[in-house]
Amino acid sequence: MYLNSAFSNQRQTLLRLRRQIRRSAQRYIGRYPNAMVVTLLLYNLWWKLRHIAGRSTTEVNALVSEFDTNEACDYIEGNFAGYELAAGTTQFSGRMLEIGPGGSAGGALLAREAGCEAVDLVDRFVVVADERRMSAVYQELARRHNVEQFRVGPSWSKFNLSEISWFEGHSAESFLSRCARESANYYSWIVSTAVVQDLYNPLSALRDMVTCLKPGGKMVHYIDTRDQGFFSQYNHELTWLTIPSFLWPALTRASGAPNRVLLHRYEAVLAELERKGLITYKIFITGLLGNTSLDKRQTLDDISEHLWAPPLAEVEAKKAGFAKEFRQVPSKYLAVTSFVLVVEKTSSSTSSN
Ligand SMILES: C[S@@+](CC[C@H](N)C(=O)[O-])C[C@H]1O[C@@H](n2cnc3c(N)ncnc32)[C@H](O)[C@@H]1O
Repeated sequence: MYLNSAFSNQRQTLLRLRRQIRRSAQRYIGRYPNAMVVTLLLYNLWWKLRHIAGRSTTEVNALVSEFDTNEACDYIEGNFAGYELAAGTTQFSGRMLEIGPGGSAGGALLAREAGCEAVDLVDRFVVVADERRMSAVYQELARRHNVEQFRVGPSWSKFNLSEISWFEGHSAESFLSRCARESANYYSWIVSTAVVQDLYNPLSALRDMVTCLKPGGKMVHYIDTRDQGFFSQYNHELTWLTIPSFLWPALTRASGAPNRVLLHRYEAVLAELERKGLITYKIFITGLLGNTSLDKRQTLDDISEHLWAPPLAEVEAKKAGFAKEFRQVPSKYLAVTSFVLVVEKTSSSTSSN
C-alpha cells in the first residue's frame, strides 16, 4: 500500500487500520446482503455527519493512492483518449468543466494541451493527495506531453496551473444548478469518467449541464452502473437491484456510493431534451453483464444477438426478485453495465430546459 506523506505517521496508522477494517468488513459482511445494507446505512450516516461538520475530505482514490506514476499517467491518457474517441474529435476549444476529477488535474492539463482555454474541476469530496507524488505524475505527464507551459511557479502543484481552477467540496449538483441559474451557455465541454453513477441527483445534474453548455458545446460522460462490489463480490452481480428503492438513497446519498440510476433513465431525459430541439445525443454501450466489454462505438441496436444472449438470460433468471422499479424495465437496459453519453447542444438552442 502506497503511503501518503500528506498525513502524519499517526494518521497513516489510523488510515491503514481503517482500510483493513473496511476490507475485512467487505470480506465478511459482503456475504450477507442484509448485513451489507446495515453497513451501508451506517457508512452513509457517518458521511452525512461529516458533510454537516464540513469535513468532506477523503484519501480514497485509486489514482492518487494506489497507482504508480506511470500507471497514473496511462490512466489519465486513457481517460482523455476516451473523450476524443466518444466525441469523434481531437479538436478542443473554449472552457471545459470536468466533474469528479478525484484530486488529479491530469485530464485538465491534457485538455489545455488539446486547445481548451480554461478548465474548471468540481468534486464533492476533497481528495487529500501526496503533493510530492502528484508532482511526479505531472512531471511524467510533461515528459509525455507539451504541458510544461501550463505550470505556474517553480514546482508542479495542482493549484498552480494556468487557467485550471478547482471547486473541491462542491457537489456537481449544487455547482451546476448555480451555473444554470447564473451563467447559462458558459461551457464548451463538460466531461467525466466514472462519476455520474455516484451523483446523488444525476438526472437534474444532466439537465443543468445542458443549460450550462454553450450552443454547439459537447458533453461526454463515461458511466459505470455496476454496484462497485458492495454486494456482487460474493453474490450475483445484480443483487443490489433486489434492495427496495425507498431504502437506496438512505444507503448512498451522502457517501457517494452508486445511485442505481440505470441506462433507461438517462435515455428518457436525453430523448425528451432532443424532442424539445435542445440537443442531439448518442449512447454507446461499453459493457454488458458478465464482464463483457465492447470496445467499438456500438449503440444498443448495434450489439449482435449472440453477445446479448448470456446477459439477457442472467437478467431474466433474476428479474422476479428485483425491486418493483426494475422489474418493469426492459431486460436489455438491465444487462448494460457501462456506457458513454455523448451530447451536443444544438446551435440554435439558447434557452434552459
Ligand atoms: C470513482 S471516482 C472517479 C475519479 C476520476 N474521474 C477517475 O476517473 O479517476 C468518482 C469521483 O466522483 C466524485 N463525486 C462523487 N459524487 C460527486 C458529486 N455529487 N459531485 C461531484 N463529484 C462527485 C468523487 O469525489 C470522486 O472523485
